[in-house]
Amino acid sequence: MNDDCPKFKIIFLGDQSVGKSSILNRFSQDKFEPNYQATIGLDFHSKNVMINGANVRLLLYDTAGQEKFKSLIPMYIRDANVIIVVYDITNTESFTHTSHWVNETKDLRREDAIFCLVGNKIDLADKRSVSEEKGKNFARDNGFIFAEVSAKDGLHIQELFNNELFPKIAEKFKISGDDDENVTEGNNNQKPGVKLEDNVNSKKKKGGCCKGKKNLDLQDG
Ligand code: GTP
Ligand code: MG
Repeated sequence: MNDDCPKFKIIFLGDQSVGKSSILNRFSQDKFEPNYQATIGLDFHSKNVMINGANVRLLLYDTAGQEKFKSLIPMYIRDANVIIVVYDITNTESFTHTSHWVNETKDLRREDAIFCLVGNKIDLADKRSVSEEKGKNFARDNGFIFAEVSAKDGLHIQELFNNELFPKIAEKFKISGDDDENVTEGNNNQKPGVKLEDNVNSKKKKGGCCKGKKNLDLQDG
């Protein structure tokens, strides 16, 4: 992939153990780890995708739900393009706590980002304690995209990205593969101490880049 292609930061937020890392792993590598391994601080991955016919690199920031790491998170929210707040549909407290991130991210990013609320673990239907309606209403009231998913079964995760988030990204940041101009602007610096891992081998497809590059707020560092 051309390193000059547009990059979008996606950050995952939410309580400990709601399944942020699992959703990310299902999306980026189509795998699921049943044994819980708490994220320490922050994990970083990347994935190359086609959005509206254009090559795009997604920078995926997987935050830790543990309270002791919470103070680190706002600085990563500040330049995120997509904010995904996750809760566990079997854990009411994790849903209640989403209001913290919903308010904080709206304060920090206002109109600049795409917001999404995700209820995870729908495979555990018999243990559900947060109704779908409750999640949907809360998302709607705050202007968030809403989805219920299962990282374990892979339910609705690719659909969330392909059918909801990618079209929103294309629309908001004016991405189109029809444009043959290659973007040469953009900042590919990594955060100090953060390793950029390319989880997916990009297929060499023809694709243009981003028409709306001047509108992008893609500070990478
Ligand atoms: P922190 O890194 O501590 O913030 O947690 P996290 O939000 O990243 O959660 P993680 O993805 O590590 O998942 C926590 C536990 O829930 C693990 O044991 C996962 O296997 C399990 N889990 C995640 N998603 C699902 C799901 O969709 N269904 C079920 N049944 N279990 C899940
Ligand atoms: Mg994690």
